[in-house]
Amino acid sequence: MPLHILNHPLAEHIMTHLRDVTTKPATFRTLAYQLSLLLAIDATRDLPTEEKVIQTPLEEMTGHVLTHQPLVVVPILRAGLGMVQPFLDTFPDVSVGYLGLERDHTTAVARNYYCKLPPLVGRRVFLVDPMLATGGSAAQAITVAKEHGAFGAQLVCIVASPEGVAEVERLHPGTVIHTAALDRALNAKKYILPGLGDFGDRLYGT
Ligand code: PRP
Ligand code: URA
Repeated sequence: MPLHILNHPLAEHIMTHLRDVTTKPATFRTLAYQLSLLLAIDATRDLPTEEKVIQTPLEEMTGHVLTHQPLVVVPILRAGLGMVQPFLDTFPDVSVGYLGLERDHTTAVARNYYCKLPPLVGRRVFLVDPMLATGGSAAQAITVAKEHGAFGAQLVCIVASPEGVAEVERLHPGTVIHTAALDRALNAKKYILPGLGDFGDRLYGT
């Protein structure tokens, strides 16, 4: 299972404030941005580059620039919206698709209520959703991405549960998952422990 856990003291610092129940939505949004920026950088560490000869003020040198490879970031609404801006700020040519999935409060099964995706064939696709709990939403998102031609779509999340990671691996073996934290377990209501509560509610003050 290709599971990449962000390993950086700054990420731990941000994560601790994000989890803190006293953190208010405005600060929560800033922290989500900062953590997602670190994740975006980590998740793209294997992007291909090509040589480029340039002239510094002192001499000629050969540097490296990103090879043109279209990136697509797909936030899973609504909480995933809090993770998109760092991708836009870092990769100006990125395309954005939207997928609306909402868990039923009783069954925790996700319902697909919106889908607007750019072409995914041949593109590097990142599905961004802060919480990987049962894995039901993520697995559905990967299925939809595959139906639209994505090959090897990767998940980027902030908190993952062992159950969610296992479910994604069961339904979509080999999927690469990037997360800032791998937590202990789910509670009876399928919330992640210790987690940070309902990400969407905390992001938008609902
Ligand atoms: C949350 C979260 C994930 C999902 C994770 O969204 O953002 O999409 O739950 O749970 P799962 O792994 O058990 O499917 P939610 O359904 O609460 O919707 P929201 O983003 O609109 O708040
Ligand atoms: N969705 C959330 O926002 N938080 C959880 O802990 C589980 C699902």
